[in-house]
This record gives sequence, C-alpha cells and structure tokens, in this order.
Amino acid sequence: MPTLTLLPSGKTTDAEPGTRLLDAILATGEKIVSKCGGEAKCGECHVFIQEGRKSLSKMQRAENEKLDTIPGVGSKSRLACQTLFGTENVTVELLGFGSGL
Ligand code: FES
Repeated sequence: MPTLTLLPSGKTTDAEPGTRLLDAILATGEKIVSKCGGEAKCGECHVFIQEGRKSLSKMQRAENEKLDTIPGVGSKSRLACQTLFGTENVTVELLGFGSGL
C-alpha cells in the first residue's frame, strides 16, 4: 500500500489506491480546509505534490479550471479533493493559510 507523507509536519499514513488525497490527509490528523465539500469549487484544498505525481489520478477539467483561478499555482499543484492515489508513495506539501490562495 502506498504511503502519504506530509510536509512540513512529516506525518504519514498508508492509503489504498483510489483513496482521495483529501481523505488521506485528514487521516493523518492534519487539518485541511474543504469549504466546498470536495466539489473543486473553493480551491482551499490546493496542495503541492513534491513526489509521486505520476502515479496520481489524471487531472480532470473541473480541477484544471479551478486551479487556473488560484494565485501561486505551479506544475506541482493539485486539488486534494480531486486527486486519487495510485500505487506509489506520495509526498505532499500543505500550503498554510495565507499562502496566496
Ligand atoms: S475542497 Fe473545495 S476545491 Fe477541493
């Protein structure tokens, strides 16, 4: 089972392939805001994928369009509510409040 590692806390959890990244982050006990309930509408669950990007689910249109509206988005950006685990370990950087969202 792949392991999720969070930065900067270093917290980890195991996640079955197909698990939503948002749910896996919450399973570590870390807090992440999801105002829209995982509908790719609020952008609050924006994270940077530092490792393991290729094994994650492909970006769909709704996520792509929302990311386009968020300042500070880069090539490592994903919305945690729209991203599903694959089979490889993933390292995610959480972006704290005030990170430009
Ligand atoms: S929880 Fe709102 S965009 Fe992901």
